[in-house]
Amino acid sequence: MSNYHIKHLEEYFKVYRKSVREPEVFWEEIAEEHFIWRKRWDNVLSWDFSKPEVKWFEGAKLNITENCIDRHLRTKGDKTAILFEPNDPNEEAQHISYNELSERVNRFANVLKSKGVQKGDRVCIYLPMIPELAVSVLACARIGAVHSVVFAGFSATALATRINDSDCKMVITSDGSYRGAKTIDLKSIVDEALEDCSGVNTVLVAKRINSDINMVDNRDEWLQPLLDAASDDCPVEVMDAEDPLFILYTSGSTGMPKGMVHSTAGYMVQTAYSFKNVFQYRNDDIYWCTADIGWITGHSYIVYGPLSNGATTVMFEGVPSYPDFGRFWEVVEKHKVTQFYTAPTAIRALAKENLEFVDKYDLSSLKVLGSVGEPINEEAWHWYNDNVGKKKSPIADTWWQTETGSIMIAPLPYVTPTIPTYASLPLPGIQPVLMDENGKEISGNQVDGRLCIKYPWPSMARTIWGNHQRYKETYFSAFEGKYFTGDGALRDAVGYYRITGRVDDVIIVSGHNLGTAPIEDAINEHPAVAESAIVGFPHDIKGNALYGYITLKETGEGRDHDNLRKEINQIITEHIGPIAKLDKIQFTHGLPKTRSGKIMRRILRKIACNETSSLGDTSTLLNPEVVQAIMDNAL
Ligand code: WT7
Repeated sequence: MSNYHIKHLEEYFKVYRKSVREPEVFWEEIAEEHFIWRKRWDNVLSWDFSKPEVKWFEGAKLNITENCIDRHLRTKGDKTAILFEPNDPNEEAQHISYNELSERVNRFANVLKSKGVQKGDRVCIYLPMIPELAVSVLACARIGAVHSVVFAGFSATALATRINDSDCKMVITSDGSYRGAKTIDLKSIVDEALEDCSGVNTVLVAKRINSDINMVDNRDEWLQPLLDAASDDCPVEVMDAEDPLFILYTSGSTGMPKGMVHSTAGYMVQTAYSFKNVFQYRNDDIYWCTADIGWITGHSYIVYGPLSNGATTVMFEGVPSYPDFGRFWEVVEKHKVTQFYTAPTAIRALAKENLEFVDKYDLSSLKVLGSVGEPINEEAWHWYNDNVGKKKSPIADTWWQTETGSIMIAPLPYVTPTIPTYASLPLPGIQPVLMDENGKEISGNQVDGRLCIKYPWPSMARTIWGNHQRYKETYFSAFEGKYFTGDGALRDAVGYYRITGRVDDVIIVSGHNLGTAPIEDAINEHPAVAESAIVGFPHDIKGNALYGYITLKETGEGRDHDNLRKEINQIITEHIGPIAKLDKIQFTHGLPKTRSGKIMRRILRKIACNETSSLGDTSTLLNPEVVQAIMDNAL
């Protein structure tokens, strides 16, 4: 019997046990039954975490676009593959069928070829969330070029660094992008970046905002005329299982961004499998992930995972606050979205606004909610569950990383009972372990430690582009023979995992290990608090003391700060204990965030420690302007 789609808890446990007992048989069966291969593999898995080297489905030949597009054409040609919802709600949505997607990808692939792009070449894609983004990703994959998508919110410097690191010879961009009420001049960011990128010889420009932009002779070309002239038939490049599919940069705690390299076959198999199960996708569902394709979430769960299942995937160009804070829910109603996948930071932002924005829309189509990117705090979880899911749509709190390629720990909706803030159980094929500081595996339940994975999984990144040594040091050196995630987690009495946050965010106060997340959760319970971030700073007696940065909701704005400080420490005392009380509390109008919505604690830590001369690069932040304001008012 196929174990591709798990529908009951007993079945989950059975499949999970099998996947641990016989991981190769488990993955081989999935690979065999659900994909098109040009040649079968000779060997399911070979691995050695000390090198580290991991190969899945070695010897197999395939093309991922044949699996995401071609094979659906006979039965689902007219089905919507990509449902594009523009920034402006008055602009019509586009329903791009599998047939149409096929035609567009084939044409685009031929354009790439005509510009000299060959198998193995790197192509940088710097596009807003418009259909050309998904199409260009798939066009690269069709001809075996390695795509490197750079989120179109990154600065020219960040873009140039990424283009040069992986030696891209082409950049695909647009004349601009819409973001809420604003337009952004993407092309001039590319122009500025390319002053430092001598290896780029071609820039293809999609038209989106019809702005009058500068085109550089012999380098820049409008995309549309090239597409119109190209043939709509581009035979696939037959790839080896382990050929790189893409590079995606993720920032480390220090140094250059890391270009994580993902391979073809393993990535395809696991993103498809996890998509089907975590979202319990059924044939007529309309699935929407609000992430940008510039992040791994978009690669795996807007493009590859959904399309390899023949799904309808919504691509949203806009932002949650435009034209007002009801936009997400308006889109859910309009397209009768069945699965909705977003980030806790978006949920918290929307929870701050009037409930009417949610209540005026019909959300009854929703069956499954998802969360990703950081631990979802209890308050946000309940708001999401009560007001969006109406307590009837299970929340899949999905833990994973750019490096893991696929969701690793998550409840399967309608299968695994959910508990707020728990990512719950590992997906079949995933073997998490908790380790103590001395490198020993912690067995049993009701324990916490550092989260590692002790057995390879198909979609794991194979290396860091151009720096295998760094790959080894970052992920395989902290704990011998294991992949180290950088996260802390606890395992409760029934074996559920709760991700407690990056272990580098652990602060030791008077000899007590305090994670920042539970303290922040407690603070966020205060009715006047919108968001908070805790960092440590040196203290004569305690070793470290806690410094809290807190943003208030509108309702809390007029309140007396000293009273608020007392109340907040009272809540912390109640939730965690007096040991976790904050020594300093600074109220601020915003917290520095990365483009993916993570609070940049590194910067806050420096300010708390009075080390502001070495703040490092803040240009890639979503809101660099708040840093100065926080510094000016530091305690
Ligand atoms: C880090 C990876 C995976 C796509 C988005 C982020 C944190 C992610 C959760 C979750 C608690 C989470 C971890 C992880 N994280 N999801 N459900 N609960 N923490 O990808 O930028 O590579 O970040 O995000 O700390 O290590 P990323």
